[in-house]
Amino acid sequence: MGLLDDRVAIVTGASSGIGRATALRLAGEGAAVIAIARRGERLKELEKANARIEGFACDVSDHDALAKCVEQTVSQHGTIDILVNNAGISHYERHTESSLEHWRQIQSVNIEAMYVLTKLVATHMIEHRYGRVINISSTQSIASEASVGAYAASKGAINAWSRALAVDLAEYGILVNVVAPGCTHTEMSIIDGVDETESEYFQKWYVGERKIPLARAGTAEEIANAILFLSGDQCTYITGHTLVVDGGLTVTF
Ligand SMILES: NC(=O)c1ccc[n+]([C@@H]2O[C@H](COP(=O)([O-])OP(=O)(O)OC[C@H]3O[C@@H](n4cnc5c(N)ncnc54)[C@H](OP(=O)(O)O)[C@@H]3O)[C@@H](O)[C@H]2O)c1
Repeated sequence: MGLLDDRVAIVTGASSGIGRATALRLAGEGAAVIAIARRGERLKELEKANARIEGFACDVSDHDALAKCVEQTVSQHGTIDILVNNAGISHYERHTESSLEHWRQIQSVNIEAMYVLTKLVATHMIEHRYGRVINISSTQSIASEASVGAYAASKGAINAWSRALAVDLAEYGILVNVVAPGCTHTEMSIIDGVDETESEYFQKWYVGERKIPLARAGTAEEIANAILFLSGDQCTYITGHTLVVDGGLTVTF
């Protein structure tokens, strides 16, 4: 018996990192998982890793493709119980050198696609009076550093929008929560070819000086465990919450 037997989930950004770990974790607990990302070959590998995973290759900023994915999922599986909005991108650039094009691209992938897909999926969750929506933001939504303005704006929007959505959808039995990861070892932690979690600065300050009290980066699987908790029936009285999973990073000065 799995925690998610007979549940149907959509996970975006499932070709690597947190999304991949989440697709495997949810499928491992018995859910049928529709895994969305652009890199189709990566999704094929996921399908091979667990037969309950089905890839759907598309760009989340292609709204017609998202509608097709939802339509196809509902016609094959009857409904959608769990939605994990995880796909995300970042550009590191200081405000003065930043571009409106990058700003728009980040908002389009990180928050607009989330809005569009959740609207499509919510219709079916409302019909079944059941749903779990988990949106992935970041500790950059509550604390900041240089060069992440557009990304931080998108992640702050996720926290605020998810709280409002939780209130809107509560009467239908739909719970909406956010997971805000801290420094997590994934492809996103490789910036300009350098794994920032292995940089001298990270090792000295975050690990050596324990800016992260647990003195290491998190793993994608640790974030997936938090997402799993908010995805199932062990979570029945939490909604509108932002669960920070950061090894203590944001509680330190
Ligand atoms: N790693 C961290 O330290 C960290 C910290 C806080 C928050 N987060 C958040 O966690 C989420 C997952 O990131 P990650 O760390 O796992 O990074 P990752 O390994 O780079 O994964 C990002 C995923 O998003 C997908 N994606 C990006 N643009 C897309 C698009 N236009 N359409 C469809 N899929 C798209 C990528 O797939 P394709 O390239 O195949 O499309 C990939 O599967 C993101 O929202 C990120 O902001 C990460």
